[in-house]
Amino acid sequence: MTLHLRPLDDEDEVQATAAHVSMQPEDFSFLLWRDQVEGWHDYVHLLREQRRGLSLSVGMVPAALLVADVDEEIVGRVSVRFQLNRFLSDFGGHIGYAVLPEFRRRGYATEILRQALIIARSEGLTSILITCDEDNVASRRVIELNGGVFESLGPSYDGTHQLRRYWIS
Ligand SMILES: CC(C)(COP(=O)(O)OP(=O)(O)OC[C@H]1O[C@@H](n2cnc3c(N)ncnc32)[C@H](O)[C@@H]1OP(=O)(O)O)[C@@H](O)C(=O)NCCC(=O)NCCS
Repeated sequence: MTLHLRPLDDEDEVQATAAHVSMQPEDFSFLLWRDQVEGWHDYVHLLREQRRGLSLSVGMVPAALLVADVDEEIVGRVSVRFQLNRFLSDFGGHIGYAVLPEFRRRGYATEILRQALIIARSEGLTSILITCDEDNVASRRVIELNGGVFESLGPSYDGTHQLRRYWIS
């Protein structure tokens, strides 16, 4: 499979914004922190700074937001957090991903997580926390296919459902 992860750049605005909009019905934020700045160029800059751990606003940790490309088309994205804050430690975990609805069930999420783990390890992470909603069968499968070891079940951030916590070493 020729899927590769890469940072966003100035040419991605139209495609990435369309991806962001297509995930809104699922209440999933494809372009994290997009509302922090107005222009696309400033957003790309903010992500670059975050990747380097610079100019972090409250609640941000050093992290990489990468899109998954297949044949020059954005099919998904992953956020790799190199540190955990309280929220990430309790709910979000080190890695969060999504595949756009029209590209699902082709193995892309499994491959995205596989490559994201390599990136996380290259930054020195040895124990990687990943969470998913209790009823998210697909995400649970993605984590387990990548060696996730179930730790516990606990309440979600808003208390409306249960979250499964996994570790990958
Ligand atoms: C969860 C998500 C990332 C899965 O993406 P995907 O590219 O379809 O996943 P894959 O194709 O890699 O499938 C992984 C496994 O899940 C299974 N699977 C995928 N969708 C499924 C579904 N709707 N129901 C049951 N199993 C499913 C696949 O069959 C595969 O298992 P297999 O290898 O044993 O056949 C995608 O549905 C998504 O983006 N959902 C919204 C955002 C989200 O939930 N992100 C995860 C946050 S923790």
